[in-house]
Amino acid sequence: MDYKTRTRIARIIVEDKVEVNSDITVLGLVRSIRRSKEVAFVDINDGSCMKNLQAVFSEPDKYPALERILTGASVRIKGKLVPSQGKGQKYELAAESIDLVGEADAAYPLQKKRHSFEFLRDIAHLRPRTNTFGAVNRIRSKLSYAIHKYYQERGFYYIQTPLITTSDAEGAGELFRVSTLDLENLPIKDGQVDWGSDFFGDQAFLAVSGQLEGEALAIALGDIYTFGPTFRAENSNTSRHASEFWMIEPEMAWAEQEDNWDLAEDFLKYLFRYALEDCADEMEFFGQWIDKEVRQTLESVIRADFERISYTEAIKILEASGEKFEYPVKWGVNLQSEHERYITEKALKKPAIVYDYPEEIKAFYMYVNDDGKTVRGMDVLVPRVGEIIGGSQREHRLDILMERIKKMNPDNMDSYAWYLDLRRWGTLPHAGFGLGFDRAIMYITGMANIRDIATFPRVPGWAKF
Ligand code: 4AD
Ligand code: MG
Repeated sequence: MDYKTRTRIARIIVEDKVEVNSDITVLGLVRSIRRSKEVAFVDINDGSCMKNLQAVFSEPDKYPALERILTGASVRIKGKLVPSQGKGQKYELAAESIDLVGEADAAYPLQKKRHSFEFLRDIAHLRPRTNTFGAVNRIRSKLSYAIHKYYQERGFYYIQTPLITTSDAEGAGELFRVSTLDLENLPIKDGQVDWGSDFFGDQAFLAVSGQLEGEALAIALGDIYTFGPTFRAENSNTSRHASEFWMIEPEMAWAEQEDNWDLAEDFLKYLFRYALEDCADEMEFFGQWIDKEVRQTLESVIRADFERISYTEAIKILEASGEKFEYPVKWGVNLQSEHERYITEKALKKPAIVYDYPEEIKAFYMYVNDDGKTVRGMDVLVPRVGEIIGGSQREHRLDILMERIKKMNPDNMDSYAWYLDLRRWGTLPHAGFGLGFDRAIMYITGMANIRDIATFPRVPGWAKF
């Protein structure tokens, strides 16, 4: 009964669609309560937007429920919407009744004060009620919509790739096994675990990426994208690595590496612009409380061209820097986070698209350049977060792809047989990339740790809730 008759606070404050003097019912959680003999103020938040609505009770003694209401309680308040007497808000609710729906006592952990993010991680089931995590979760939702809008408007089909798979899409071996075998009583055949008797009749894993299946669909449908969870058993305890995260993977048929760069840059700028324009209240909050510069940074990034430099040029910049890096730099090494940050934060002071990496350090599926030494991989690097996108033009020539797999992932030859078929019949040039959704949200909000971006983060040693 309440659900249909309630007025959402966003409708009042953000959309400004409710007329003054309307009789309304507002439902939500109490953020704070102040009272004197003559008047009581109850700030209520229903999560529909950043802002609270203030309910004002004159003659508070007439409302016995007020006595039992503390921060965190859920309440139903009826009254008239009126122009606010106080500053900082346009409207307030001249309350006529209040019901206590769900009590909160003094042990409620979210009392009105600033809590550390570390403390809030332990109560990830309650932290969405705070301003910061409310804003993070609303931005996640709005940007998810923006992602679909971006691709749908450009003729890309949204496809769903499997989460359980027998293929290691990155060939990096960072896989979580999916098995129903009894760990204490493993079936052994010829001295080895008999995976043939496992649930799927083969070894199976959680997908690290939907790319390989995405390529099969791109060849069939033209342009596609995925948007789903991926899993990595990578033991990296950093502020930017999660064991479960969401990724957007577009894949374009008939495309080569420059098409990939163009799409990556245009897509990121679209998301940044969307955040600034369509999530203005949240972005104002992040600018005020999390990172003062965050909005100016996004604005300047939207205006600038991303710097496009080859891996070889990136190495030259690092070698000429005179910096003492923890991981020494020379042609052939993987770029570490300290290198990525130097390039974007100090050398270029803007995002960079780095391409043409040494073939030894990139995945088996990347297109091999004529020099035989480099592949058409690309990483998009941004200040503070480092790598936000990884992608490549794909190797579509059967013989070269087979050689690469033989060299880099010989044990997986059988599980890639179907992938090779894509090159055997109707092969064509194609390219794509993966944007880490959680890293994109980190960059956009200025939040420093991926544990505070994922709704319920999964990282080494932690899968609580
Ligand atoms: O660079 P990655 O590993 O590329 C792929 O998975 C390709 N299959 C994508 C493709 O070409 N279709 O991952 C892509 C992005 C990274 O740039 C990063 O933003 C994010 O996914 N990412 C992670 N985010 C959080 N935690 C982790 N452990 C991540 N690993 C990668
Ligand atoms: Mg990568």
